[in-house]
Amino acid sequence: MIIQKSENPRISSFDPNNFSFGNTFIDHMVICEFEDGKWGEVKLVPYGPLPFSPAMMGVNYGQACFEGMKAYKDKDGEVFLFRPEKNFERINKSAARLAIPEITREMFIDGLKALVNLDRAWIPQGEGMSLYIRPLIFATEEALKAKISSKYMFAIVATPAKSYYTEPVSVKISDFYSRAASGGVGSAKAAGNYAASFYPTQLANEEGYEQIIWTDDATHEYFEESGTMNVFVRINDTIYTPPTSEKILDGITRDSFIQLAKKRGIELKVEPVSVKQVVEAHKDGSLKEVWGVGTAVVTSVFKALGYKGEKLQLPLLSLEESFALSLQKDLVDIQTNNAEDTFGWRVLVKNEILETV
Ligand code: COI
Repeated sequence: MIIQKSENPRISSFDPNNFSFGNTFIDHMVICEFEDGKWGEVKLVPYGPLPFSPAMMGVNYGQACFEGMKAYKDKDGEVFLFRPEKNFERINKSAARLAIPEITREMFIDGLKALVNLDRAWIPQGEGMSLYIRPLIFATEEALKAKISSKYMFAIVATPAKSYYTEPVSVKISDFYSRAASGGVGSAKAAGNYAASFYPTQLANEEGYEQIIWTDDATHEYFEESGTMNVFVRINDTIYTPPTSEKILDGITRDSFIQLAKKRGIELKVEPVSVKQVVEAHKDGSLKEVWGVGTAVVTSVFKALGYKGEKLQLPLLSLEESFALSLQKDLVDIQTNNAEDTFGWRVLVKNEILETV
């Protein structure tokens, strides 16, 4: 790995009590280029813009995918990643679906650890704080023929992240727009999936909903995801979540919630969740909770579901009553080293001095 440290680090002007998520970037980034059929050397370099042509294939044809993951600092200042191998596996699955060459473990895991270790001072400490890390791959060939690109860039950038505690939101159950199609790229973390979700979400916002519950493209009768997250429903004391498929992202937070619910002895069914079942459960009072899970905010609790012009209100439960909030707490306690990690999910990032090459 080539390491080039920043000569003008910005860390001394970073205020962990006053920053905004997503547009404050740590001092360094990882980059690696693919050319002539192979990936080159991984470079850890100062964060900053890169020169690209508007004819770059990644922006013209959307051959791009990414990951979202976090690093946490415990009360003693030790730094941990959460299930990074899962993100490594998934970025290569996304890459394969988009005809992007797979990356190596060295590029992903070693690059990630070196970056997080070097910029560990950027990881805010305390309740709900973390470093959100964005590994990504995009096509860089300067060419307008619609074909598989012959050049790519793999990069890792990161931004400090604050509290998980977001206000409960109202979500609209989609009866027209779809996030993913049969045989499409829904299970990949393809950049284009997010682009396609913005307009329907904007329309939902105009109707007073913060997010959309995406339903299947063929019938709109089954839940698939919510916003950029996987979706969970609690009816009486049973949790339901749709099975992953070519249309549903295999969320790492989703999988962690499933394992944590099972550990607690909560009944959890991974099976298709129909809109009808949810609307009827709301009518008879057995619908207790509906929530989304994802890396960025961990849990987003829903206070109302919009369906065909009606707004179905949901009860707001306390931490003790809520499966969503208590499972979130179990997860965050493991992520931040406040609880024993019986699953082996935490990965320590050793505090090592990196030599500039
Ligand atoms: C997540 O929930 O982690 C996401 O995928 C959100 C991200 C696009 C900011």
